[in-house]
Amino acid sequence: MQVIKEKDPLKIWVTTLKRKGSLIGLVPTMGALHSGHLSLIRQAASVCDYVVVSIFINPTQFDKPLDLQNYPQTLDKDIALLEELNLNIVVFSPTASNLYDNKIEAEHFDFDGVELAMEGKFRFGHFDGVGTVIKKLFELVQPDKAFFGEKDFQQLQIIKKLIEKTRMPVEIIGCPIYRETNGLARSSRNERLSWEIRQQASFIYQTLLKAKEKFGTESAIQISDWVENEFKTHPFLKLEYFEIADSNSLKTVEDKQLDTPYRAFIAVYAGEVRLIDNIALNY
Ligand code: PAJ
Repeated sequence: MQVIKEKDPLKIWVTTLKRKGSLIGLVPTMGALHSGHLSLIRQAASVCDYVVVSIFINPTQFDKPLDLQNYPQTLDKDIALLEELNLNIVVFSPTASNLYDNKIEAEHFDFDGVELAMEGKFRFGHFDGVGTVIKKLFELVQPDKAFFGEKDFQQLQIIKKLIEKTRMPVEIIGCPIYRETNGLARSSRNERLSWEIRQQASFIYQTLLKAKEKFGTESAIQISDWVENEFKTHPFLKLEYFEIADSNSLKTVEDKQLDTPYRAFIAVYAGEVRLIDNIALNY
């Protein structure tokens, strides 16, 4: 397994492989790798000749400087974990100044309003930062396919918009949410939960499952009210938002349409730790 730390040697590697006609997959990450990330990498390796795993804590997507400062940096451990997979992986872990050419700023994007919903509302400028870094990575790695988790479903839709707008020839593949045995969506943030709260946090997925059940017979407003009430009485978890939205535009549902795919999205605080999850409701 190769580890490349700068853009120039990566460009040479990409040119050589493109000349040979190899299929390149890209799995962008911010490191602190866990089984959710690994599921994306395995999926990429099953359909590509080489998988570039980028490990880069992207400064422009953090709306709170403290979050950036506290983000776990575990590069050596991540590399060891990837070695064990024994796949055709190239790790790309540049510094911010190298990837951003010393100009660490986000580009501004119009993602047709997808950037303004939910996470966009609560994390100002977040998707400009994500769009900026992913555009840079796509230009550099020129992947045939890029893999993103449905765990961050809004991010996945943003990346599809990025492709639509820039017409970069990259196929975007959404991968299923990898969950812990109690149903909690796997996240590096779960490590910051106490054992007890980690068990309690399965309540988030249980609520999503019940919302899905209700979606057949109840209105979106009834379900949202029900979810809000469920969390009001919860001793450890505080609801930030629950929304039922069109899976493509991410616009909040008004009147349910039969042929529209809908998803429920949720963000919850367990103490200081912010957890997000989502579920398909009618597909
Ligand atoms: P990060 O949070 O490290 O996640 C990297 C990828 O792993 C994302 O596509 C995310 O959706 C996916 N992922 C995380 N947990 C998952 C789970 N439990 N099941 C399935 N997939 C999961 O998302 C980012 O980094 C950054 O915003 C990035 C796209 C790298 C841009 O900086």
